[in-house]
Amino acid sequence: MSEPNTMPMIFDVEKIREDFPILKREVNGKPLVYLDNAATSQKPQAVIDCIVDYYSNYNANIHRGVHTLSQEATDAYELARRKIQNHFNIKFAEEIIFTSGTTHGINIVSNGFASILKAGDEVLVSAMEHHSNIVPWQMLCKKTGATLKVIPMNEDGVLILSEYEKLLSTRTKLVFVNHVSNALGTINPIQQIIEKAHTAGAAVLIDGAQACSHIKADLQELDADFYVTSAHKMCGPTGIGILYGKKSWLEQLPPYQGGGEMIKEVTFEKTTYADLPHKFEAGTPNVAGGISFGAAIDYLNEIGFDAIKAYEDELLAYATEKLLEIDGLKIYGTAKDKTSVISFNLDGIHPYDVGTIVDKLGIAVRTGHHCAQPIMDFYNIPGTVRASFSFYNTKEEVDRLVSAVSKAQMMLS
Ligand code: ALA
Repeated sequence: MSEPNTMPMIFDVEKIREDFPILKREVNGKPLVYLDNAATSQKPQAVIDCIVDYYSNYNANIHRGVHTLSQEATDAYELARRKIQNHFNIKFAEEIIFTSGTTHGINIVSNGFASILKAGDEVLVSAMEHHSNIVPWQMLCKKTGATLKVIPMNEDGVLILSEYEKLLSTRTKLVFVNHVSNALGTINPIQQIIEKAHTAGAAVLIDGAQACSHIKADLQELDADFYVTSAHKMCGPTGIGILYGKKSWLEQLPPYQGGGEMIKEVTFEKTTYADLPHKFEAGTPNVAGGISFGAAIDYLNEIGFDAIKAYEDELLAYATEKLLEIDGLKIYGTAKDKTSVISFNLDGIHPYDVGTIVDKLGIAVRTGHHCAQPIMDFYNIPGTVRASFSFYNTKEEVDRLVSAVSKAQMMLS
C-alpha cells in the first residue's frame, strides 16, 4: 500500500495532472505511468493551446513582412525570447540564439571554435557527458589538433574536482560539463567548475538540457560563457532550444550556417553578417516552437521552481527507498546532489528485458546506455533502466513502478 501523501498542501499534484491531457491515456490496458521525463517531458494544455493558436490565427514568417500577421508572429516570437531572457536572468536578449535544441547549440559553438583553437590547445570534458557534449568536441579536436582530456568521476557518479584542478593549465581553452547528468541525475557544481576554468583562462560551455526542468539557472550569477538547453525537456515542444553565449564570444565566433536572415548585405563578391542574434539564425525558424517555448516557461514559473524541486526531491527519496527494498537492485548515480532520476539494474537481468515487461504494465522508462556510453563503460555494464520523475508524477506511480520491477524480476529470474 502506498504511504499517505505528505506533500505540502500548496503542491496540488492532482490539479497539476489535469493540465496534461496525455496523463489520462492508457497503455497496454493500464493507466499510463510516464517515467521517461529525462528523454522528453509531457506538454501541458497551455503549451498545446499556444501552438494551435499560432497556426489557427497568426501563422506567418517572421522578421520579413510588413503585413499584420507577420508582425504579430514576429512580436510573439521576440516576446518569447524576452521570457527566456528573464527566466535565465540573461543580460541581453541578443545573447539568446534560438536553435533546434541542445545538440544544435553545442555544434554552433564547436564549429565556431574551429577557427580559434590550434594544435597544443586542450579542451576538457567531464566523464559523465551525453554523446552530444563529446562527439562535437572530438570532431573539433580532429580539425584543429587540440587535445580532449577527461575530468574523471568516482563510483557515486560525482566529478573529482581535485583531478579537474590538476588538468587545468594555460593550455586549457574550453571546458564542457553538463549541469545535470542525464544518465545518473548528478547535479554538478558548475559554479565552482566555471570559476576554476576562468582562473585558468578557459571558457566554459554548460549543457543544461537535463537541469532546466528542475533548476532555474541564473546565467549572470553563474558567469558561464555558453549555456545550452532544449525546450522539450521543460514542457515545451521538440525542435526548439537555445544557445546562450556571452555577447563578446558570440561576436567573435563565425556564423554556423549561411542563408537568409543572417545577413546585412549580400553581393556576389561578399556578404556582411547581421547583428546578434540573427547572425546565428539563418533560415525560417521554428516560429510555433519559439512562441510555445515561452508558454512553457510561463507555465513552469507559475508552479514555481522551488515548489517543483521540493516535490521532486521528495519523490526521489521515496522512489530510492522503495526500489532499494528489491533484492539484487543496484542504483547507479548516488550523488548527494541529484535530480529525480534513478538509473538501476537487477542482478543478472538485462535492462531491456525489464523495460519491455514494465511497458506491458503501462510504465514508460528508458533502457540502454542513454547516449552516455562512457558512463556505462565506467560501471562495466551494457546499460541501465532509467526512471526519471517529473513534478506531475506521484508516489502511487512510484509504487506501481516498484511492483512492476518486482514482477519483472520474478518472471526473468
Ligand atoms: N538525452 C535524452 C535522454 O537522456 C534523450 O533520454
